[in-house]
Amino acid sequence: MNSNQIVKKFEDLFNNEPLLVRSPGRINLIGEHTDYNDGFVFPAAIDKEIHFAVAKNDVNLFRFYALDLQESFEMKVEDLSKSDTSWANYLLGVAAQYKKAGYELEGVDCVFGGDIPLGAGLSSSAAIENGFAFALKEILEASVSKIQMIKMAQKAEHEYAGVMCGIMDQFASMTGKKNNAIKLDCRSLDFEYANIDLHDYEILLVNTNVKHELASSEYNTRRAECETGVQILQKYDNNITALRDVSLSLLQKHCEEIDPTVYKRCEFVIKENLRVEKAFSALANNNIKALGNLMYQSHEGLRDDYDVSCKELDLLFDMAKKSNDVIGSRMMGGGFGGCTINIVKKEKINLFSESIKNEYAKITGLEPEIYSVKITDGTGLI
Ligand code: GLA
Repeated sequence: MNSNQIVKKFEDLFNNEPLLVRSPGRINLIGEHTDYNDGFVFPAAIDKEIHFAVAKNDVNLFRFYALDLQESFEMKVEDLSKSDTSWANYLLGVAAQYKKAGYELEGVDCVFGGDIPLGAGLSSSAAIENGFAFALKEILEASVSKIQMIKMAQKAEHEYAGVMCGIMDQFASMTGKKNNAIKLDCRSLDFEYANIDLHDYEILLVNTNVKHELASSEYNTRRAECETGVQILQKYDNNITALRDVSLSLLQKHCEEIDPTVYKRCEFVIKENLRVEKAFSALANNNIKALGNLMYQSHEGLRDDYDVSCKELDLLFDMAKKSNDVIGSRMMGGGFGGCTINIVKKEKINLFSESIKNEYAKITGLEPEIYSVKITDGTGLI
């Protein structure tokens, strides 16, 4: 990603010299839908990024320009509230968090754009929120930590985009480290970096190029289903505040009292949480095959028990699983579209890409997109 175009547009529109910030998207090796259950995740920031050119103005306006959409947006600072322009809400939502934290807001000009595909499950929205949170910290000279910015970005998503997301995406985008994945405890926010060296293998993302409407409503429903499970199980152990605290044996013991759908959701989360720990050890022991197997299990659970996959993701998964050149594959992110993450033999990347493109297009009539990504540092100044 190159920020020249963004700077040029900023200068054309606002005739001023901006501050430059970059903010990456993320992948997740494993640990899906565990973050809002206080569990573990294993994401990494990637070299698909949003870049920002930002400066204060003295006209008391938020003036934003989304380069990729070629759309502008304007609002008086004193009118700060949710708007009808969905992309602007990510920025406004972050500004609102600074206001809540007691900072006096001023007019801000911002041009942003990037190469994180939208709706692909690579967290373009978290990248936007983080990047703007970082830019505002700089221009307001606010003394906020990375963790505070991550939480503000997450709140922006809850309050201005209406998705009750967990903390994984914002955390990964903000704290990413070159060549490392982050094993994050979403309760304590303690984290550990793990060097990603897949030896003869490489990470390859395949984008279904679909995003089904269901995504955000079903996301919130899954959250509620997990909370229902917790409420029932809390009666048996008042130390339980999230599915993170529930063992498989406790869940199984109370199977009869739990609605079968809620049961399946809880079982998936508990098992997925255990898989993160196993995946972390597998990577540390250079056991890429074991990591890959855990990814297959994760997809099967997301498809059959958590019910957040879709036929396009399942098709890509099936194609990957039957290939001799792949040792791990699964859907990634919230679900209902977006990308699969695959661990593919380096020397077979081209062959695999060609065959998956042809077969997917033949069956669905859609062109999949294939990305080979590098693991990068988190949000920061350019
Ligand atoms: C979305 C959310 C995350 C996480 C994933 C599923 O990406 O934003 O918080 O819950 O879905 O793992």
